[in-house]
Amino acid sequence: MRVRDVQHPMLPQATEEELSRQRAVVSLRKLLNARVRSQNVRRFHEEGAAAFAERNSRQPQSPDDIQAALFESMGYRMWSAANRSAQEMIWMSVGEPIFRDRDRMQAAARALAEAPDRKGSLHLDPDYDPSPEIAGTDVHLQPGGYGRDDGPDDIVAGAFYETGGNVFSFGQGAGKGDSKAGVIFRLLDEEFPDFVPGRILDLGCSAGAASCAYADRYPEAEVHALDIGAGMLRYAHARAEALGVAVHFHQMDAADLRFPEASFDLIVSHNMLHEIGAEKRRRAMAEALRVVRPGGLVIFQDVDTRFAPTEVHRVEKNWDTAFNGEIFWQVYNEADLVADMRAAGFAETGLREHNVSAVSNINRWYVISGRKPVDGTPTA
Ligand SMILES: C[S@@+](CC[C@H](N)C(=O)[O-])C[C@H]1O[C@@H](n2cnc3c(N)ncnc32)[C@H](O)[C@@H]1O
Repeated sequence: MRVRDVQHPMLPQATEEELSRQRAVVSLRKLLNARVRSQNVRRFHEEGAAAFAERNSRQPQSPDDIQAALFESMGYRMWSAANRSAQEMIWMSVGEPIFRDRDRMQAAARALAEAPDRKGSLHLDPDYDPSPEIAGTDVHLQPGGYGRDDGPDDIVAGAFYETGGNVFSFGQGAGKGDSKAGVIFRLLDEEFPDFVPGRILDLGCSAGAASCAYADRYPEAEVHALDIGAGMLRYAHARAEALGVAVHFHQMDAADLRFPEASFDLIVSHNMLHEIGAEKRRRAMAEALRVVRPGGLVIFQDVDTRFAPTEVHRVEKNWDTAFNGEIFWQVYNEADLVADMRAAGFAETGLREHNVSAVSNINRWYVISGRKPVDGTPTA
C-alpha cells in the first residue's frame, strides 16, 4: 500500500515513523469501514429497533427515532466512537510532518508561485470573508478548517487537505489524475462526446486535485478554480505549478462569482455541494448558470448518500453531521437538487441526475448536470 503515490515538492517529507503511523490509520479506517460500519443497518434491525421499542413503547419511525435506535446498539456505539477517533488520528498522522516541514514547504510554495516560467496564477482577495459557519468549523475535523490562514505565506490548510485526504481515501494520492474528475471525463465521453471546453471553472477546488486533472486533460483550455481560504489556495497554486499544469486560482465564493456572464464553457464542482448549505447552494447554481455560455455545461459531482435505499441507510449516513464537523451533510442529503436547479433557472430539458461508479475504486458518486439552452434564455 502506498500512502502517497504522487510526489511533488509541496508534500511534507514524512519520516518512516510518520509514514508507518499513516499506514496504521489507513488500516484502521479500512477495517472500520469494511467490517464494522457495513453492519450498522443490520445492527439497527437486529438490536437497536427492539431496544428502542422496549424503552419507548413504540417502533422507531422518525429520523430522530432511528438515530436513537442505532445508539441502542453497542456495536454501533463502538463503531461511532472508533470512527471519530480514527478521523482525529488522520490529522495527527499528517500534522506532525506538516508542522515539522512547514518552513521548507512555504519556501517551496513561494519559489513555485514566483517562478518566471510559472503557468498559472493566484488571485487572493484580502476583503473576502468566508461565512462564519465555514470559517468557524473544523469540517471533517481538519484542524483550522477550510478557511485557515496562518499568515502571508501560509499553506497549512492545503497541506492538511491533500495529505489528510490521501490517508482518508485509503492511501490513494490523486496527482493530476484525480478520480472524481475522471468520473466527469467518462460522463463527458459517454454523453457529450463532441463537447470540448475552452474555458473551465472548478468551484470549491481545495488543494486543486480536480482542477489539475482538467488542465491535464484539456491542455488547450484555460482552467480557473476557486475556493474560500487563502491557505488552501496558496498550496493549490504551488502544487499545480509543481505538477506542471496551468490553473488560475481565485479566492472567491461560489455563490458570488466575479466573472462576466457567459464566460465559461464548463463549470464543475467536486464534493462542494455538501459543504455549502441550502442558501449558498441555490445561489451557486444560479451563478453557475449566469457565467456559463449558452450551450455550456454545469456539472456538480458529490457524495452519493442521496441514493440510500432505505430511511435507516439514510440516517446512518448522517453520522458525519453529528460527529465529523460536516455541518451541511444532512441538509445536502435531504435536498431536492433537481428542484434547486430548476429554481436557479436551468431548463428541465437540459437537467440530468446520474449515479455513477468511481473510476478507480468501489465508491459511487452523485452527479447532477445542466446544459444552458443555446438561445440563452433558460426557462424556470
Ligand atoms: C470537500 S472539499 C472538495 C474539494 C475538491 N473539489 C475535491 O473534490 O477534492 C469542499 C471545498 O469547498 C470549499 N467551499 C466551501 N464553501 C464554499 C463556497 N461558498 N465557495 C467556494 N468554495 C467553498 C471548501 O473550502 C472546500 O475546499
